[in-house]
Amino acid sequence: MKTVNIGLVGAGFMGKAHSNAYRAVSFFFPDVKAKPVMKTICDVDVGLAKQRMQDWGWESYERSYKKLCARDDIDVIDICTPNVNHLPVVLEAARAGKPMLCEKPLGKDASEARQMLRAVEKAGVVHMVSHNYRRCPAVSLARKMIDGGAVGDIYHFRGTYLQDWIVDPQFPLVWRLQKRLAGSGALGDLVAHSVDLALYLVGEVSSVAATVETFIKQRPLPEQVTGGLRARGAGRGKRKGKVTVDDAAIVLARFKDAPAIATFEATRFALGRRNQNRFEINGSKGSLAWDLERMNELEYYDGAAPEGRQGFKTILATDATHPYMQAYWPPAHNLGYEHSTINTVYDFLNAVAAKKIPKPNFEDGLIVNAVMDAVLAAAKSKRWERVRA
Ligand SMILES: NC(=O)c1ccc[n+]([C@@H]2O[C@H](COP(=O)([O-])OP(=O)(O)OC[C@H]3O[C@@H](n4cnc5c(N)ncnc54)[C@H](O)[C@@H]3O)[C@@H](O)[C@H]2O)c1
Repeated sequence: MKTVNIGLVGAGFMGKAHSNAYRAVSFFFPDVKAKPVMKTICDVDVGLAKQRMQDWGWESYERSYKKLCARDDIDVIDICTPNVNHLPVVLEAARAGKPMLCEKPLGKDASEARQMLRAVEKAGVVHMVSHNYRRCPAVSLARKMIDGGAVGDIYHFRGTYLQDWIVDPQFPLVWRLQKRLAGSGALGDLVAHSVDLALYLVGEVSSVAATVETFIKQRPLPEQVTGGLRARGAGRGKRKGKVTVDDAAIVLARFKDAPAIATFEATRFALGRRNQNRFEINGSKGSLAWDLERMNELEYYDGAAPEGRQGFKTILATDATHPYMQAYWPPAHNLGYEHSTINTVYDFLNAVAAKKIPKPNFEDGLIVNAVMDAVLAAAKSKRWERVRA
């Protein structure tokens, strides 16, 4: 079997999810067409890189992504850095002719995403954005059911992504709360996932009306520049800095090629909602609903069910016939968060071996970024804004 040497940039939260995926993918999917070798993990925090090399099973570590991209013994670049670093790493990897998987959102804005798309197209390399929730088996099943006509004509997409990790005003000003590092707040972090799910299940968003809010305007500066898994609970300094992104966003949307209408809501201020990534789709024949906090389940309402027996049913998407499930366990032996990334990496490696561009790729990433830009423009203008991808 062909092997590919992976160079992973960013040894934080997503670095952990991707490392686990490279470690597990050929165990669960022995048919993967390119077996990954965990060659090098790279982080600006070199102490962290060294530690993660040992903890997560990488062969070596590196401080500079430029050096990593230039190395002949690295075949594939995986980008798990904060959003601000996606563009420079992508440009470097493209210059070196390396296929790449990049975390979402692709850019801080559409202009960056456009540059990245141009670079990978010019280099002729395989590119993919890690919108992993498409690859939860229950979500892939939803897509199959929509394609098979189970929902009929789609009228509504309702996407919500609710978290509560920054309600405490003393929570420090980490990179996710700074526009120059993140691009946007709950919008690029959370709405981006819902917009990608809408893109996957319904189609391209063409116009939006929106409002965004920043509830806590100033926060303590972290005591030091922190990275990795420490960032979420970073040390709290005495000095304060300005929060320059949205804490919450609410969006109305219309689609390019579908009469359906959509709403998206995301916040980091929904106390008690730790990571509720949910969508509901209502169509002429049925409805579908999914919630990441119960990720193995897909709710389905069949409009053709006989009277007296109507109601939502819960499909446990863990049978061998369900997407990706043949690789895992017997029915009802449930999957967790990490399996969405294992499935993503499986499809990415197969695409690298076949030299075929998978979905979602940088073109899709640009579309999502363009929706985010239109949301910020609409929140400012208080008018509907067109999405310009
Ligand atoms: N797909 C998902 O479900 C999901 C979930 C969380 C985060 N993300 C995305 O993943 C990316 C990373 O987020 P995270 O939560 O892992 O962040 P994190 O802060 O936990 O980790 C980022 C790491 O990158 C390192 N880094 C920063 N600049 C670097 C550089 N120039 N070179 C090398 N290393 C560098 C930091 O030191 C840190 O260790 C973001 O784009 C985020 O939006 C995606």
